[in-house]
Amino acid sequence: MANADIGVIGLGTMGAMLALNIADNGFRVAVHNRTAARIPQFLDTAGPLADRITGHAELAEFVAAIASPRNIILMVPAGAVVDAQIEKLRPLLDADDMIIDAGNADFHESERRASEAEKAGAPFLGIGVSGGAEGARFGPSIMGGGSRTAWDRVSHILTAIAASFGGTPCATYMGTGGAGHFVKTVHNGIEYADMQLIAEVYGVMRDGFGKDAAACGAVFDRWNEGLLQSYLIEISGKVAAATDPETGKPVLDIILDRAGQKGTGRWTVIESQMLGSAVPVIEAAVGARNMSARRDLRLAGAETFGAGDRRIAAEALSLEDLERALIAGKILCYAQGFDLLLKASDEYAWDLPMPEIAKVWRAGCIIRSTMLDDMAEALTDAPSRNLALAPYFKTLLDDSIGALRKVAVCALAAGHPVPALTAALTYFDTLTSARTSANMLQAQRDYFGAHGFERVDQDGDHHGPWLDQHLDG
Ligand code: 6PG
Repeated sequence: MANADIGVIGLGTMGAMLALNIADNGFRVAVHNRTAARIPQFLDTAGPLADRITGHAELAEFVAAIASPRNIILMVPAGAVVDAQIEKLRPLLDADDMIIDAGNADFHESERRASEAEKAGAPFLGIGVSGGAEGARFGPSIMGGGSRTAWDRVSHILTAIAASFGGTPCATYMGTGGAGHFVKTVHNGIEYADMQLIAEVYGVMRDGFGKDAAACGAVFDRWNEGLLQSYLIEISGKVAAATDPETGKPVLDIILDRAGQKGTGRWTVIESQMLGSAVPVIEAAVGARNMSARRDLRLAGAETFGAGDRRIAAEALSLEDLERALIAGKILCYAQGFDLLLKASDEYAWDLPMPEIAKVWRAGCIIRSTMLDDMAEALTDAPSRNLALAPYFKTLLDDSIGALRKVAVCALAAGHPVPALTAALTYFDTLTSARTSANMLQAQRDYFGAHGFERVDQDGDHHGPWLDQHLDG
């Protein structure tokens, strides 16, 4: 019977949780999975929600179970698997049936899929879904991309299953084509940077102050009561407090310092470079993950040069300094992320709804935090102003940048690797430089390549006196 409101393909953790969430919100869901054995397993876990879910091992039966015009969510691994699934699905669909890619797609691929679908006259949506398994089950943050009419067709389902912040659903249409996945990519870049800033401060507490994991956890718990309140600080407190049941040691102490990554942070950096936008804190975070993975090299380095004494005297630096440094770092990293979004919005003519992006990140997603509500307010006042220059954040930075400088200086002097904290500080120092040293770059470029430069006192394109001299030999 074709009566399901929506279909979900892919019953991995995220797809399964999303299907349960949709059913939990009163919608009928048809599900399909490439490995058919997973379907009954999934239905067994659905409890009473199974009444609203039908499982179909055959793709054609799955399609037939969905009411027309059909809406089908793909929650399969990003990349070639998505294209292969679309290829299998399309011949079974009617022209107005819609495919919704909810995975972590590269936005270029979503742009391509959206334009292919448009040519075929078929609706397509690429939606960024954040919040991990818990978010998918109980309320993720959803960033939509594709045509507005395609979004409007399923927005009642997407807003119903999304997290909500003060009654406002965290599901928003971002723009055409790959806009939703672009916003999700930048979300992940910021996620990497936010995590790296926290990890660096943890490193200073551990190796500089000699604090054990539980003590670090208690600090994060306390910070979570203040301006830094966020999901990432909250879970940092929790993971630092956890004990390994096997050894009785703090779990943090038995985890190898080799970080994984699936690539979305790297995409953010690549896109920022392509757009000529600066996201140095995100770059530092991706670089730090890359260096963490080079454990053999690091071990060789530590053996060759010795690790040195990295202790920091209690009088030199306080926990309050660290807290304020993290506040400054956080503001500056988000300022970069939103700046990149603005650049992309212009470049791809998306007209991204800047305050809405901050709003959609206030709940459900991994980077959710109290500060995002203040960012939403600042972006409502002035959507294209760099967040660091917004009055509220200017005041916060006035109050915290000194601490960031102090933490950076002490940490660097003691030999701590703090690439994200220092990148944030350097970004601030560049942002506040009315005159940088780039005049030297321009002179060098003109000297060796006759690239020309602008003058401070005249309009037009100019060359230095060196050109004739050195070309004449
Ligand atoms: C989210 C997360 C999620 C991401 C994981 C792992 O918003 O729910 O960003 O999409 O895949 O956090 O990312 P890495 O493996 O790259 O750290």
